[in-house]
Amino acid sequence: MNGKRTQLYEGKAKILYQGPEPNTVIVHFKDDATAFNAEKKAVIEGKGVLNQRISEFIFTKLNDIGLPTHFLRSLNMREQLVRSVEIIPLEVVIRNVAAGSLAKRLGLEEGTALPRSIIECYYKNDKLGDPMVNEEHITAFGWATPMEMDDMMHMSIRINDFLSGLFMGIGIKLVDFKLEFGRFVENEMMRVVLADEISPDNCRLWDMRNNNAKMDKDIFRRDLGSLVDAYQEVARRLGIIQEGETPPRSRPKLVKSDL
Ligand code: TMP
Repeated sequence: MNGKRTQLYEGKAKILYQGPEPNTVIVHFKDDATAFNAEKKAVIEGKGVLNQRISEFIFTKLNDIGLPTHFLRSLNMREQLVRSVEIIPLEVVIRNVAAGSLAKRLGLEEGTALPRSIIECYYKNDKLGDPMVNEEHITAFGWATPMEMDDMMHMSIRINDFLSGLFMGIGIKLVDFKLEFGRFVENEMMRVVLADEISPDNCRLWDMRNNNAKMDKDIFRRDLGSLVDAYQEVARRLGIIQEGETPPRSRPKLVKSDL
């Protein structure tokens, strides 16, 4: 299936191919998992399919409420067609509850509710380990304009409100998550849309029905058990997979014939 495609880029969890139509890109979700800037690595069969399906579900809902995203449509269980955008080199993290690097940096106990949601920006640069930056750095170095920052902050707040409610309704606490945005030109105007993915790989999701058990990539980062089982439970509660259904974990294999 991947035979004659032009590969544009390979990242830690995804591969991008040139799309079949102008200004489109195919995103292929890999089973690779990395943590701590790829110091820890594994292949977790089934993760790519689950992330693609969860991200498709969330991006479709966001498009439906008028929140612009790069998502066009899913092509199969593991791949989606998206609008080609220039990725803004920032990781925008929205936090509702203290956890991870914030808990460590400020000496807060994980699970402490924050007085209000907090948005942080990190400069997307693996060599530097994605350092935290503020609006001064971002606009001075031209990574994003003040108007783009405004758009991203407004969209982040809307996405947080929407997703917090969506997850709350299925007994899951949205502790924090990471967003990426892209820009493209439309009618001679630069537009900013949500890009990348939203999946348990880049969210912290805690199970309110089970003692705040982790249902996200912290299971891999901290060796807490089966990541696929947890991601499957998230997909099941969202209604993406049915009770009892186990989605295919690997791509179809060639069966050797005796003939
Ligand atoms: P942090 O607490 O490690 O800073 O992570 C905050 C959120 O961002 C968490 O939901 C995981 C997500 N995240 C990514 O998606 N990619 C990353 O490289 C990092 C460090 C965090």
